[in-house]
Amino acid sequence: MKMEFARLAKEAAQQAYVPYSKFPVGAVLIASDGTVFQGCNIENASFGLSNCAERTAIFKAVSEGYRDFREIYIYGETAEPISPCGACRQVLSEFCSDEMPVYLLSQDLQVLESSIGGLLPYHFKKADMS
Ligand code: THU
Repeated sequence: MKMEFARLAKEAAQQAYVPYSKFPVGAVLIASDGTVFQGCNIENASFGLSNCAERTAIFKAVSEGYRDFREIYIYGETAEPISPCGACRQVLSEFCSDEMPVYLLSQDLQVLESSIGGLLPYHFKKADMS
């Protein structure tokens, strides 16, 4: 856990487009080569089309050709460390190992360390893929 990345996750939340929920979220995903991807949530008037911060970060990274990741930081304006949604847990589990650390951050940067497998044990995967 690096405080520098926790602060970057908080910084990422400043770009959130959240006119509906007014709940900014920021994420920082670190690729295995150290490249940093920031993401924020981006909402839509058609609420179901909103994209979470974690998925913004991983879609940015995958679209740039990155496939291997080291850790992720997720920041929310919450009293306790944010609990990421189920959809993001599944999307992250497509590219991140069960052991990969996930650092959940509160508004005042309290940290709860978890992992991809800890957040979503027994995640869906096709039978013929690992
Ligand atoms: N949100 C995230 O960005 N990440 C999460 O893990 C939980 C929820 C966003 C979606 C929506 O823009 C707002 O927070 C309120 O649900």
